Amino acid sequence: MNAPAPPHTADSLRAALAGLLEGIPARQAAQAVERLIAHYRGATPTDTPILRDRADVAAYAAYRMPATFEAVRSALRAFADAVPGWRPGDHVDIGGGTGAAAWAVGATWDGERPVTVLDWAGPALDLGRELAAGHRTLRGARWERARIGPALTLGPTDLVTVSYVLNELTASDRAALVDAAAAAAQAVVIVEPGTPDGYARMIEARDRLVAAGFHVAAPCPHSAACPIVPGTDWCHFSARVSRSSLHRQIKGGTLPYEDEKFSYVAATRGPVAPAPARVVRKPQIRKGQVLLDLCETDPSLRRTTVTKRHGDLYRAARDTDWGAPWPPAPSGRD
Ligand SMILES: C[S@@+](CC[C@H](N)C(=O)[O-])C[C@H]1O[C@@H](n2cnc3c(N)ncnc32)[C@H](O)[C@@H]1O
Repeated sequence: MNAPAPPHTADSLRAALAGLLEGIPARQAAQAVERLIAHYRGATPTDTPILRDRADVAAYAAYRMPATFEAVRSALRAFADAVPGWRPGDHVDIGGGTGAAAWAVGATWDGERPVTVLDWAGPALDLGRELAAGHRTLRGARWERARIGPALTLGPTDLVTVSYVLNELTASDRAALVDAAAAAAQAVVIVEPGTPDGYARMIEARDRLVAAGFHVAAPCPHSAACPIVPGTDWCHFSARVSRSSLHRQIKGGTLPYEDEKFSYVAATRGPVAPAPARVVRKPQIRKGQVLLDLCETDPSLRRTTVTKRHGDLYRAARDTDWGAPWPPAPSGRD
């Protein structure tokens, strides 16, 4: 799961973000980032948009969009692997903000499709439209004001994404959103921060999708209940994010990358070919053996040890990664 996006999409996004903070004093951008960090650490939800003006939104995009883009792209890639041959004919991104998930869908399935980004924060939509204006497949996207809540209605669509939004909603609005997505879409992909709370919100959404007749395509190898005992652990993954100098300037630090932790569920009404098992922790490589923590079809969580004696499987285990299907697909896609 750690390979960054193909250069064309990641580079286009980075190029679009690079011009963003021009004209905004560095101090103001830093303050906006600090306010956002404080907010995202604090109590949510809110009654009004957090992203109030262009400076907030520019700071959000520079500070968070490369990471949310990579997390959603990782989730979508796992989903695409589990629904071979399927591709969305259209896409609605709910709480889409500046459009990270729209970019991630474009990075997963090439070609053009109608894209609608819904959010209650006008400045976020305006900036999203601006960023997408130079991108071949996104420049026709519609950016529309909409409030998530009981009144949210969606027309039929192939794919709905909801990324890093559930934590900003009340429990009843979360339920209304997932139900509206399930009623409208063939496929729903939900991404949350890779924290215990993010995982809990994701599982709640997963349960609602399954109850509505969806099949889980990824990350789980099954649609039965999650084998994790609530409160003892949380299922999450990691996506590597290359950091531009702009990103380093906003976030501080010197490393050329960071690892974004996320939880996700990708589900569809159509047929699925989920992974036979998935690596749910960073593999531990020891002398002559690799320890893999797997979520399996049973459903169960199990640690397996692959040793040199396993030959090709051992080599595959050394190359595998947190979040990958196990054993790897014969095509070597993962
Ligand atoms: C953390 S941002 C995530 C943005 C984007 N999906 C991403 O992954 O980068 C959360 C977004 O949800 C939107 N949002 C929060 N509550 C909302 C509501 N009740 N109705 C509509 N949008 C909402 C915010 O305005 C913001 O753009």
